[in-house]
Amino acid sequence: MRKIIFNIFIIITLISCSAKNDDPGVEYAPNMYHSVPYEPLSQVKDEEIGSWLDSNPDDGHGEFYNSNPYNPYSMTMREPVENTVRRGSSLPYRLPKDSLELSASVKSPIEDSEDVLKEAKVLYDRYCVHCHGEKGMGDGSVGKVYKGVTAYNSRAVKDKPEGHIFHVITHGKGRMWGHGSQISIEDRWKIVKYVQTLQRQ
Ligand code: HEC
Repeated sequence: MRKIIFNIFIIITLISCSAKNDDPGVEYAPNMYHSVPYEPLSQVKDEEIGSWLDSNPDDGHGEFYNSNPYNPYSMTMREPVENTVRRGSSLPYRLPKDSLELSASVKSPIEDSEDVLKEAKVLYDRYCVHCHGEKGMGDGSVGKVYKGVTAYNSRAVKDKPEGHIFHVITHGKGRMWGHGSQISIEDRWKIVKYVQTLQRQ
């Protein structure tokens, strides 16, 4: 009995293999290999099911292959209509918290000016001064107790680009919390300008 089971096992193993590289051999439970629903970001082109569809025009859906027979090139997700305007903010503002390095190349849309710095000081005094202190030395009244507040002119922070500072304000870093939900994008860029003036002092 054992021998028979062993032989059957060997035979199944052998017929599962194929000489052709692109042929997976016998597929057990094919639904597990081929998604039944259309996958939004896939473009499965299954020749076999294509010809199957030709002979079964009424049944638009493949048995288990999700080639999309309705859209050109079997695309599941169509491209947006020409001149579509995307919703939501543009890429720099969608950088996630863990992409601090990528933020370095993000450029400020705001020009330096006295008015901007005046507004920025008001914002800084509202959102940052209690931790970072009047001169950005990390010695604000909360900062003294909270500990570990980096001075803006410290070696680690001094030469950081504006996009980096913007990202830190937006998402926070380490023990500092993010302020993205409280401060508008424009105001965050203004604060960046002010932080840079403190760094230069
Ligand atoms: C609750 C206290 C607190 C507040 C409020 C706060 N920070 Fe911070 N900040 C910290 C701490 C703590 C760190 C050190 C983070 C770390 O690396 O662990 C830090 C670090 C930084 C750094 C250095 C980031 C780096 O690359 O290491 C910058 C720049 C910064 N804060 C800017 C700001 C600005 C601008 C504001 C106001 C919008 C602000 N912070 C508000 C506590 C605070």
